[in-house]
Amino acid sequence: MTEIKRVAVIGAGTMGSGIAEACAKGGAETIVVELNADVLARSEANITGSLDKAVARGKATEADREGTLSRMRFSTSIDDLADRDLVIEAIIESEPAKVSLFQSLDRITPPSCILATNTSSIPIINLATATSRGDKVVGIHFFNPAQVQPLVEVVRALTTSDSTVSAAADFCTATLGKKVIHCGDRAGFIVNRLLVPYLLSAIRMLDSGLATARDIDDGMKGGCAHPMGPLELSDLVGLDTLKAVADVLHEEWNEPHYAAPPLLKRLVAARRLGRKTKAGFYDY
Ligand code: 3HC
Repeated sequence: MTEIKRVAVIGAGTMGSGIAEACAKGGAETIVVELNADVLARSEANITGSLDKAVARGKATEADREGTLSRMRFSTSIDDLADRDLVIEAIIESEPAKVSLFQSLDRITPPSCILATNTSSIPIINLATATSRGDKVVGIHFFNPAQVQPLVEVVRALTTSDSTVSAAADFCTATLGKKVIHCGDRAGFIVNRLLVPYLLSAIRMLDSGLATARDIDDGMKGGCAHPMGPLELSDLVGLDTLKAVADVLHEEWNEPHYAAPPLLKRLVAARRLGRKTKAGFYDY
C-alpha cells in the first residue's frame, strides 16, 4: 500500500488552509498550492495564527508549531508535484474547474499518487473519469475548521480501488488523527445530507419572521448543545458555498428540502457571504 509522506493541498481558502495545517501537523511534508498570491499569503498568515491559537489553548507545544511550519511549503505553481504521494484538491466548488485541475494533476503527479478531492457535492466519478487513474481517485471530505473538526468522510467512487480507500483512510487516522466514516458517491455524502436541510430550514424560519437570528441560534445551542447555531454555522461555512452545495443536492435528489431559500439567494447576490466577507446573517 502507498505510504503517504509527501502531500500537496491545492487551493488555500479556508478549507485548503485547515487541511494543509492538519497534514503538516501530523508529520506529512506539505506543499500548499494556490495560484492567487494574495490568497496564498493570507493562508500562510491564517495557518500561523491557528497554530498560535493551538499553542495558547494547550493543544500544541511550541515545538509542534515550529515542526508544523518547517514541513510546509507555499507555492503559486502547480508544476512542483512530481514527488507527491497524495494530492488533496480544495479549490472552488465548480465542476469544470475541478475537472480541468484533475486533468493537469494526472499529467504532473507520478502514476502512484492518490488524487483526492474535498468536494462536498460534486460526483467523485466525474473527477475520476477526467484522469487515467480512476482507481486512485477518492473523496476525502473534511469539516470546517478542518484543523480542528475530528471527522472525515472517505468517499469511494465506482472506479476507486480497495487499496486507495485503505491508504486514504489510514492516512486520515494515522497521520491526521481523524475519525473516518465511509460512504458511497452520492451528493451530500452522510453529513451534508443531514446538515444542509437543517441549515436551510433555519434560513426559512428567519425569513418567515418567526424569530430573530440570535434566538434561532440560541435555541439550538441551548436546547440541543450544538457548539454553534445554524445561522452562525452557515456564516462559517460561507453562504455561497452553502448555496452551491444546496443546488447540487437539489439537482441530485430533486427533494424540496434541498432547495436554496430566497433569503439565501439574495444574501449571496448581495455578496454577504458570511464570515469571509465580514457580513452574512451577522456582521463580523
Ligand atoms: N487548533 C487546534 N485546536 C483548536 C484550534 C486550533 N486552531 N482552535 C480551537 N481549537 C480547539 C479548542 O482548543 C477547543 O478544544 P476543547 O473543546 O478540547 O477545549 C475546541 O477546538 C473548540 O474551541 P473553542 O470552544 O475555544 O471555540 P473556538 O471559537 O475556538 O472554535 C469551533 C469554535 C471549533 C468552530 C466550534 O464552534 C465548532 O465546532 N463549531 C461547529 C463547526 C461545524 O459544525 N463545522 C462543520 C461545518 S459543515 C462543513 O464543513 C461541511 C461543508 O462541506 C459544508
